Amino acid sequence: MRQLLDEAAKGGYGVGAFNVNDMEQIQAIMAAAKQTKSPVIVQASRGARAFAEDLYLFKLIQAAAELNPEIPIAMHQDHGNSFETCKSAIELGYTSVMMDGSLKEDGKTPASFEENVAVTKRVVDFAHERGVTVEGEIGVLGGVEDGHGAGGSGLEHVTNPDQAVEFAELTGVDALAIAIGTSHGAYKFSKKPDGSVLKMDVLIAIHKRLPNTHLVMHGSSSVPKDLQDIINKYGGKLKETWGVPVEEIQLGIRNGVRKVNVDTDNRLAMTGAIRKVLWESPEKFDPRDYLKPAREAMQKVVAQRMTQFGQAGHAGDYKAVSIAAIAKGYKDGSLSTKPLVAAK
Ligand code: 13P
Repeated sequence: MRQLLDEAAKGGYGVGAFNVNDMEQIQAIMAAAKQTKSPVIVQASRGARAFAEDLYLFKLIQAAAELNPEIPIAMHQDHGNSFETCKSAIELGYTSVMMDGSLKEDGKTPASFEENVAVTKRVVDFAHERGVTVEGEIGVLGGVEDGHGAGGSGLEHVTNPDQAVEFAELTGVDALAIAIGTSHGAYKFSKKPDGSVLKMDVLIAIHKRLPNTHLVMHGSSSVPKDLQDIINKYGGKLKETWGVPVEEIQLGIRNGVRKVNVDTDNRLAMTGAIRKVLWESPEKFDPRDYLKPAREAMQKVVAQRMTQFGQAGHAGDYKAVSIAAIAKGYKDGSLSTKPLVAAK
């Protein structure tokens, strides 16, 4: 993933990181990447690894990489809760891990700054020796995803820019997730977000201090009204809600955001498509009758995001280097883990 992010920084674009739990989702992501000629990050939460079973999921991603040799692809552990979770992902063959030390191992209780630094640094040392990229988190996101999260609105623990600088310096992470008021899931904002709830000013302040650090926006689904409407039209009961407007993500990308996490929008697209088939054709019982439209609906959303984030067209810009070459780069210092820090 480090290579994908470095290339994205050079090109001034963001790369969507899409969650995967099953075959239809990885197929949708890869079809969209192929369609738009995009490099891509696929990521699995602990919940996904448990749902699909590690080996099934890993082999699906391996198949995706084999079938699409022209697409640079990183396989990322989303929200690792402990050193052991990250280690097990690395041992399976993931090329990137997130150590979310902003929470304690229970994945719910906010951790202290010192605890976060200690566990993240431990993962960085283990991962870099093996050529694997590490994302850390400073500040705490809102909401809960797959049982992981502190809950709340996302405004309780917005990242402090000075702490972000200290965290990046002490841990040597490759990518830094920050909390700017977003949360996981469909219910992020009760109206179109403005600066009082979506703290783009904090993101910009962090980018000013850490101009070369790859920033990560979590909870970046836009929760489009048309996807909500399809679900509700066919028997769903979603309450009215707002996500992160794409133009705010694009502002983030102009200010150092290189990885953009999207899960909920794809869930909405698939569920809407499945509901529509079952509602309109209650006599159907072959799962392919609704999984195929679900896969197509997800492909459409992913392709749209790839275009909006700017990664479209960049798949052929570079050749993926081996994990051994990346490990060597960390060792000889050609891949820097020392952030450039600008004065206040
Ligand atoms: P959304 O729920 O907004 O899609 O966020 C997903 C995410 O951040 C995964 O880590």
